[in-house]
Amino acid sequence: MAQAAIRNGLIGKPRPRVEGGLKVTGEAIYPSDVAVPNPAYAYLVTSSIAKGNIREFHLAAARAVPGVLDILTFQNTKGDFKTQPNPGGVSGGATTTLESAKIWHDGQIIAVVVADTYEAAREAAHHVRVDYDSEAATASFDNLGAVGKKTTDASVDHEDPHIGDAEVAYAKAAVKLDAHYATPAQHHNPLELFDTTCMWTDGKLTILEASQFVHGLRAGVARQLSMNPADIHVESRLVGGAFGSRGGTTARTALIALAAKRVKRPVRLVPTRAQGFTIATFRAETRHQVKLGAARDGKLQALTHEGWEISSRPANYSVSGTDTTARVYACPNVATRVTIVHADRNTPGFMRAPPETPYMFALESAMDELAVALDMDPIELRRINDTMRDPIRHVPFTSRSLMACFDAGAQAFGWAKRDPRPGQMRDGDWRIGWGCASAIYPAETGAAAVRLWLKPTGVAKVEIAAHEIGTGAQTVIAGLVADRLNIPVEKVSVELGSSDLPPGGMAAGSTHTSSVCNAVAKACDSVMRRLKQSNDDPFASGAIEVYAENIPKGGDPDSVKNLYAGMPSFIEDEKHARYAFGAQFAELRVHASTCEVRVSRLLGAFAAGTIMNPLTAKSQLMGGMIWGASAALHEKTEIDPRAARYTNTNLADYLIPVNADIPQADVILVPENDSKVNPLGIKGVGELGIVGMNAAIANAVYHATGKRVRELPIRFESLL
Ligand code: MOS
Repeated sequence: MAQAAIRNGLIGKPRPRVEGGLKVTGEAIYPSDVAVPNPAYAYLVTSSIAKGNIREFHLAAARAVPGVLDILTFQNTKGDFKTQPNPGGVSGGATTTLESAKIWHDGQIIAVVVADTYEAAREAAHHVRVDYDSEAATASFDNLGAVGKKTTDASVDHEDPHIGDAEVAYAKAAVKLDAHYATPAQHHNPLELFDTTCMWTDGKLTILEASQFVHGLRAGVARQLSMNPADIHVESRLVGGAFGSRGGTTARTALIALAAKRVKRPVRLVPTRAQGFTIATFRAETRHQVKLGAARDGKLQALTHEGWEISSRPANYSVSGTDTTARVYACPNVATRVTIVHADRNTPGFMRAPPETPYMFALESAMDELAVALDMDPIELRRINDTMRDPIRHVPFTSRSLMACFDAGAQAFGWAKRDPRPGQMRDGDWRIGWGCASAIYPAETGAAAVRLWLKPTGVAKVEIAAHEIGTGAQTVIAGLVADRLNIPVEKVSVELGSSDLPPGGMAAGSTHTSSVCNAVAKACDSVMRRLKQSNDDPFASGAIEVYAENIPKGGDPDSVKNLYAGMPSFIEDEKHARYAFGAQFAELRVHASTCEVRVSRLLGAFAAGTIMNPLTAKSQLMGGMIWGASAALHEKTEIDPRAARYTNTNLADYLIPVNADIPQADVILVPENDSKVNPLGIKGVGELGIVGMNAAIANAVYHATGKRVRELPIRFESLL
């Protein structure tokens, strides 16, 4: 029985993507491709200063451009639009715009030009002149005016994990490490730009926009426009890249809705790539101080992790990755602290593995440095400090296969052949480096609701506002229903990505597969029960229809209701720590004279509970590993410190790897049976693949060169 296969074999069938054919033939319809009747086009005018006030708009020249229909500014939209923070203060909160004359950051939306054609709107936007009262802006850390605030002061819910007395234990430790690390600002740059299309029919609003949470977007826009959410419909059938950037509600959607209302036509916005850097969210730059104290045998005695993160002036967004780094290794004395540093920047938000990517770079670099100080193999150091209990709360992990991942990964990588001395492995002019690091990501499950039909013809239809953000959600859901109802996968159709459907939660934080699949399985099981009731013809009414809500064990009883209202929530598991783990390896070459760094092999071994579809899971994990390599060696948003302005806002200057930069990336799925994390035992793989790769590469650079680079990205100039 297929159902048993999922529970015991732990790996589902490798099924190709349901929508794969459409995507590779260019037939896939993304939100900005959906044809709408008689659209007008919007073009954004964004501020050219980072701090100050708008004194005056000069709009006559723009209005004179033929085809211009309307120009929205704070002066003529007053009261029609209000930026609201998202529930739970998630990304996009306080991305202020068009509310007043105030400028919070460079590239802030200050006007929306609407015209008959895109070209007319663009031309008119370039004719808008603005007089500003400009003030000196603060770009980032170390700049005058950067204001630090402890996260414990910024949020009443925030707790910095700590236990024991890290200061005393560090002072007494036989072997010590105290180092600073830094990661840069990064921007998601999905292929699909931050477009939106809005139209009104009889007072009801339809929004076509790629989203990771259609119910959240609906609720967010309802608050911004003071509307009833029931009068808003959001559609996002496919998403051309998200990575966190489409998890929250930003200002642009409500502004375009407002424009459409004013011109009484559908309005389509396709912002430029450069505008995407400031009208959406991003990963802010971080700094870290990590102090590790260990006994001679390698056992950790003290861990201190202090983090600093840039945020905007009005928002308190922070990722606070110390929640995770405090729990990776056994250590009796832990102290952590996170400080938000406010600057004149747009509000940051989720970007793939938001907390773990920067914070685990710091911790896993420090662990490698400690291994060097101890003259110990870095995998052995992790083995000595492996633990089956959360060191802060002293509760067990639902399951933890970190060392099984290291064993499988080291074996496949050939780690035993590594000469531990830096700079010893060579190939002609190239120094070869091998590095490794741990990966960890929380395994949360959220509430979800679903409607499922089984028709007498043996066809099943699933309706759930899940999100196909490129992860294979549709394929995984179809496969699960086929297995559970014992019908061919071709007989299953999946409707997703619409706020008219029961909510599937936010496709974020490695939670979507477990949230959605546990609800879908529940619906399948009630269909099977109905089928088994022998004295009742289950098809009497033409089909079996079930609606199922799944609230994870221990979850808020209102959590499905909250989802309909745009608020996702995850359970507080008092009895367990819930994480997925992995071990990541990198081989790279550093040229002896030019210091050019070339990746030659990436490998990751991951244990994430039940794998619903090894094809799409491997693809997720491989994508994460490539992104990790990108973060370690390529990506950085450059910021002009005088203007507080991003300067490389295009895909020519914002460096990302191409195929030639990643010659080999292997993914190993380590079997893991977790009966506690959720009924299907799913931990999720969306974020895990990126987490360890940053440090694995930095550690490989050290192994190749003997030079420890503690600031990303590592480019040849870091090594000269
Ligand atoms: Mo993920 S960064 O939570 O979309």
